[in-house]
Amino acid sequence: MAARIDGDPAPAAHLLRTAQADVMAGIDRLFDQWLPVPADPRERLYQAMRHAAIAGGKRLRPLLVRAAGDLFHVDRMLSLRVGAAVEAMHVYSLIHDDLPCMDDDDLRRGKPTVHKAYDEATAVLAGDSLHALAFEWLCDPATSADPFVRGELCCELARASGPAGMAGGQMMDLAAETSDFDLRTVTRLQQLKTGALIAFSVEAGAILARVPAEGRTPLRGYARDIGLAFQIADDIMDVEGDEALAGKALHKDDAAGKATFVTLMGIERAREQATALVEQAIGHLSGYGEEAALLRAIARYVVERDH
Ligand code: IPE
Ligand code: IPE
Ligand code: MG
Ligand code: MG
Ligand code: MG
Repeated sequence: MAARIDGDPAPAAHLLRTAQADVMAGIDRLFDQWLPVPADPRERLYQAMRHAAIAGGKRLRPLLVRAAGDLFHVDRMLSLRVGAAVEAMHVYSLIHDDLPCMDDDDLRRGKPTVHKAYDEATAVLAGDSLHALAFEWLCDPATSADPFVRGELCCELARASGPAGMAGGQMMDLAAETSDFDLRTVTRLQQLKTGALIAFSVEAGAILARVPAEGRTPLRGYARDIGLAFQIADDIMDVEGDEALAGKALHKDDAAGKATFVTLMGIERAREQATALVEQAIGHLSGYGEEAALLRAIARYVVERDH
């Protein structure tokens, strides 16, 4: 457990558990429907995508789309479709992150990684395909009848996953093994590598509701803070987490000589920082009432999770 935040946990924990279970089931349903295995030579590609995408992970990003969408009474089916798109982008990033040319990992979400269960070429193509499908699903009029909403969702997801977002952060992460990054640079790295897709997930709820950009400031502050707290928790877990619970190899950052929040701050200060960021994230939601309860519960979960 990375940290513990005070407050009455019981109703919030129930709210979180129920919403997360619902989102997990919904995402699995959509992936099952949207990734039918064809009876032709692409069968292996679809099987590999299903292996990576179905029944796994915390589904944090789709949960954030739902929670932010709920603030503005967005139809939950629409939030779920956007959640599936961002999850597909996330799963692609994990498939490629695990490849031998990157982190070279054998286990992901408690299962063999795609290049282990299949082969490297199939893993590259499964990642490529999920990346493309994320945009295809966002562009579908069933996701939003409003072409401006669809366009904004696509632009923002592109920004969040490209060189100014996740892929750029992954490049910096590789460099972190051989460079002497300071805290400012590691913060920037994490904002791109992990923060950008988390921020997109929160923003997507507001985009679906056609909230103008100036009305999104509190949500952006919330997303920035939980994104950083999430990555600090991932770094703490890499040091003191349980591999069986995490479902992936841990203790890799230090072995790779990688600069992380933990190597730079030490584990106690990292934990304090994560806790402070969660409080700050919740502070950004002070203008909202009960309708933001799920977002508040997610902020706490981000650092209290054990996997
Ligand atoms: C793991 O993400 C990779 C990082 C961005 C640190 P998650 O911790 O959200 O992984 P899943 O989706 O639950 O497997
Ligand atoms: C991966 O970061 C983040 C992305 C895939 C964008 P990590 O390499 O730290 O993630 P884990 O620890 O393998 O899940
Ligand atoms: Mg990595
Ligand atoms: Mg990795
Ligand atoms: Mg990690």
